[in-house]
Amino acid sequence: MWKSAEALLAVAVAGAVGLAVLPAGADPAAPAEPGTAAQKTGETGKLQQAVNVPAPGPAPASAPASAPASAPVIGLGRTALPEEIAAWNIDVRPDGEGLPAGAGSVRRGEDLFLQNCATCHGEFGEGAGRWPVLAGGRGTLQSDRPEKTIGSFWPYASTVFDYVRRAMPFGNNQSLTADDTYAIVAYLLNLNDLVPEDYVLSKDNFPKVELPNQPNFFDDDRETAEKAFWKNDPCMADCAGAVHVTARAQVLNVTPDADPPKGNLE
Ligand code: HEC
Repeated sequence: MWKSAEALLAVAVAGAVGLAVLPAGADPAAPAEPGTAAQKTGETGKLQQAVNVPAPGPAPASAPASAPASAPVIGLGRTALPEEIAAWNIDVRPDGEGLPAGAGSVRRGEDLFLQNCATCHGEFGEGAGRWPVLAGGRGTLQSDRPEKTIGSFWPYASTVFDYVRRAMPFGNNQSLTADDTYAIVAYLLNLNDLVPEDYVLSKDNFPKVELPNQPNFFDDDRETAEKAFWKNDPCMADCAGAVHVTARAQVLNVTPDADPPKGNLE
């Protein structure tokens, strides 16, 4: 699955390069104009360069953003296969949409967590060494040292499911089955005192699980809350006025003393 998804990405990147280097209306088979990034399209390594390094001189008029709707079809790539789309489309939403079929108990989750997660996150999600803490921290968000965990900070159980399924265990991510993921998420919820020890989490009861900090998340309200700060004609040039240097870091003595750097920096 992953191999094919990567191949798809490679095709997509190649497609973007093709767009970037072909002047509008140009025949894809015709030799490229000299003096544009197009002259670097000989081989794959150079293609990469053509993306990252702007061509000297004025930007070619064919940058993707300004490409006219009538730009020629390049003919690269192919329609993504349903399996390829499924491999990418694994997000889970707060209402449970996107959840796979399956179920898992807190007890099974405990076993799986000990095998796959505890080396880094501790047996009870307390975090081994400096690895992230996954449980506890309730009531600390307004303190000087807020401890942000699933129980104290995260908004939805779906955030946990999505994250664990997508990104953990670190170094071997996307290796867990759907049932394993339900079980581990159930255990994480139990560690955070949100479900009892005999709980079985499933696709059906998942949307009923609520995390305590959820009410503190709200939709982006800048359009109303910050409207008073918006200006109709924002300043776009020379806005700061003259700059006066009032102190230099060296004079303020914030520059570290010139100890020789440790290690070989070459
Ligand atoms: C090799 C160490 C390691 C293992 C094993 C591991 N993790 Fe993690 N985990 C991490 C690291 C590192 C992060 C932080 C990643 C980041 O912020 O990009 C993390 C982050 C997390 C987070 C998000 C924490 C937060 O509040 O931001 C969760 C949840 C999590 N891991 C769950 C798990 C689960 C469940 C397993 C077992 C299936 C697991 N991890 C296995 C290292 C590990």
